Amino acid sequence: MSQDRAYQMCINPDCAATFSLTDVVFSCPKCGSLLDVRYEWERLAVPAKLDFFEHRWATKGLGAEGRLDFSGVWRFRELLPFAPAESVVTIGEGRTVLERNDRVGREIGMKPGGLYLQYEGLNPSGSFKDNGMTAAFTLARVLGRQRVACASTGNTSASVAMFAHKTDPEMQGIVFIGTGKIAYGKLSQALDYGALTLQVEGDFDACMRRVKEVADRLGIYLMNSMNPFRLEGQKAIMYRILEARGWEVPDWVIVPGGNLGNSSAFGKAFAELHALGLVPRIPRLAIINATGANTLYTLYEKQGVRWNGGRMTNAEKVGQLYDKFDQSGYKPHTIASAIEISRPVNLPKCLRALEVMNGVVREVSDEVILEHKAMVGRYGFGCEPASAASVAGLHVLRDEGVIGPSEQVVCILTGHELKDPDATVKYHTGVDMKSITPPAPRPTYGKYANNPIPVADNLAAICAALGEPAIEG
Ligand code: F0G
Repeated sequence: MSQDRAYQMCINPDCAATFSLTDVVFSCPKCGSLLDVRYEWERLAVPAKLDFFEHRWATKGLGAEGRLDFSGVWRFRELLPFAPAESVVTIGEGRTVLERNDRVGREIGMKPGGLYLQYEGLNPSGSFKDNGMTAAFTLARVLGRQRVACASTGNTSASVAMFAHKTDPEMQGIVFIGTGKIAYGKLSQALDYGALTLQVEGDFDACMRRVKEVADRLGIYLMNSMNPFRLEGQKAIMYRILEARGWEVPDWVIVPGGNLGNSSAFGKAFAELHALGLVPRIPRLAIINATGANTLYTLYEKQGVRWNGGRMTNAEKVGQLYDKFDQSGYKPHTIASAIEISRPVNLPKCLRALEVMNGVVREVSDEVILEHKAMVGRYGFGCEPASAASVAGLHVLRDEGVIGPSEQVVCILTGHELKDPDATVKYHTGVDMKSITPPAPRPTYGKYANNPIPVADNLAAICAALGEPAIEG
């Protein structure tokens, strides 16, 4: 890998300031915009065709190159060539599965062969975050950092905590989580992996503000997705989808939107692949907010905020909305705690991705999220609530006719079902739907509910519960 041909660049086209890879800047010191990792592709060895990558799939991780081939991120190292091979920190992330799922597809109005589910919950720490963390930890190691930190709704902290103690030399992982805002599966991971866990009195947005201050002032390396190296790793989710589809580009990619790192990374992946002539076309993108945390939906669909080549249309609406949040004391609220975020740090990059991928944004209620989560559980491998927003969003877009029944759609399932077993058990055993936002738009709630049946400790009762005649004796 040729790290001397990579650099960082401000995404604001009127600034376009450049920085070296080892300059630790998460926003442009000149204009305050986010930064991209950029490459001098013409001076790099980029494969002529994507099928070049296939031979690496079977590698079991032996030897120096094998270690990289085993990773579902570094297998594609020519497409994120920013670090020398020996610096790469990998724990076997990204060995995930794309499943054609006709049964979920049928439930939401897709023809057979139309719906694919990408299970990022199969990563080592149980969420898509590991794709980004392998890249950010690699840079932290290049920089010789010993302490890394993040704000998190749970999955980022689990991933940071795991990578921190797996990196050689070991780093200290410091995680900022909001009080009462994190699913237990995720909290248990941060604790078990030994992260210094700060439970801040406040929500994710408060944690994000604080961790940025602390990173700036104490020189701790920031692992949130405003770190542009995170997004380089997350591009690989798109590479794997293409690979699993024999390099055929789908019509749509659908992803939940929280801090908007994933969607930003997907847009960058396709912009680069297209510019390199490695894909004939770019799929459309749908980003799905929870109704109780719908900043992107409000700004993009209701208020017409657009990237517009970097000279944003209606940019002032962003500040106005945030002022309104401050004045009214608004706090986001959704059962999909992973995406309970009101000030997404990657908003500009996400708007750029929406432009590159001709995207749309939708919002879905908690009730609809839970229903679709249960559907994925019933017919697939399961996922956590935020992840099901992608399938719920597809349902909305099918009902609207924006997505046709025969289109090829990939929904990203961002996190593992066991991250948040509480939400699952509540769904199946009954939850007071009035306590979640907003009121039910669909009357179908509970279609997949699967209550445990209380049964006495005797054979007759058990046979009766199984619908069988009683067994004698
Ligand atoms: N799905 C899951 C399971 C997540 O954990 C997150 C983000 C998202 C979707 C949203 O992704 O931020 O790229 O738009 N979780 C972060 C965290 C914020 O701290 O774990 P995004």
